[in-house]
Amino acid sequence: MFRKDLLKDKTIIVTGGGTGLGKSMATRFGELGANLVIASRREDVIQSAAEELRQTGADVLGLSCDVRKPHSVQDMVDAAKKKFGKIDVLLNNAAGNFISPTENLSPGGFKVVVDIVLNGTFNCTLAVGKEMIAQGGGTMLNIVTTYAWTGSGYVVPSAAAKAGVLAITRSLAVEWAKYGIRINAIAPGPFPTEGAWSRLAPPGFGIEKKMKNRIPLKRFGEHIELANLASYLLSDGAGYINGEVVTIDGGEWLKGAGEFNDLDRMPKIAWKAMEVMRKKSKK
Ligand code: HXC
Ligand code: NAP
Repeated sequence: MFRKDLLKDKTIIVTGGGTGLGKSMATRFGELGANLVIASRREDVIQSAAEELRQTGADVLGLSCDVRKPHSVQDMVDAAKKKFGKIDVLLNNAAGNFISPTENLSPGGFKVVVDIVLNGTFNCTLAVGKEMIAQGGGTMLNIVTTYAWTGSGYVVPSAAAKAGVLAITRSLAVEWAKYGIRINAIAPGPFPTEGAWSRLAPPGFGIEKKMKNRIPLKRFGEHIELANLASYLLSDGAGYINGEVVTIDGGEWLKGAGEFNDLDRMPKIAWKAMEVMRKKSKK
């Protein structure tokens, strides 16, 4: 399925493509034949990632860009078009996040996350969307997370922003289909990255262990699993998938949602006792 030419000649912009999941997805796209544009704030991080990505054989443009700033986003789009002539795919992956009791947040703390995640996604979507409309189509993929629809304490700015990104995904999947633009989202559960772990699961507080225990498959995601899913959704083989959000979380959010899922913890002997009681009462 993941033939070496799956994404051949597609030009893909990955925001936040210099680190973590963005870099892993970009690496996979490069292996599958894509031209890459990776963009984030830190020039040194982006340029060294671009150099690494060239090892896949891909043609890579690394750009410094702050998705919060529309003019910076427009510069990125212009540079991508100048180098590759067209933009086939936008992957909105850049994000900011941290854990905090909500009563300890300042308005600035809320704003910084919403600006990167929600406004940043909109800025990129608008600028690239205009190009795609002019060129007759394209594909967009937005990285959200499962608390986009469940909500989550201690990450309220991120939850609010990701919910907004999901709403943009579903809205534009309908509105822009007439231009040949497909828009989908992926909702990952926990995938270890330096960026996420340093801010959401700092060592010494047992957070990582709690996160793993919540997952029915009892492990975190592998980057290649996410990268393969993204590659599929961007490929022409997924041409009829539009407005969908695909969860990749080992069953984590459903485990939290099902009323009786915690009965996992009930010992076998208790199940036996219940059975005996049931048979007795039937008699
Ligand atoms: C409370 C905080 C805070 C914290 C910052 N602020 N960190 N408030 N707790 N831990 C507040 C500051 O006090 C300030 O408020 C405002 O936020 C801006 O802070 P700055 O440090 O100036 O912002 P900046 O340098 O722009 O950094 C942005 C950032 C940072 C979001 C705070 O973490 C960042 O650069 N993140 C990028 C990468 C990232 O977050 N990756 C993880 C994504 S993981 P005032 O009031 O002073 O203005 C992810 C996973 C989701 O999303 C799902 C997992 C399962
Ligand atoms: P990460 O490595 O910290 O990635 C975030 C990226 O966003 C960084 O490369 C960062 O680069 C960039 N960025 C931040 N602010 C930016 C801005 N204003 N303009 C441009 N780029 C900006 O963390 P990650 O774990 O890989 O997260 C990637 C995506 O997956 C995010 O959307 C995140 O919400 C999502 N996600 C992650 C997990 C997980 O468990 N890891 C789970 C669910 C969803 P600069 O600092 O150089 O700008």
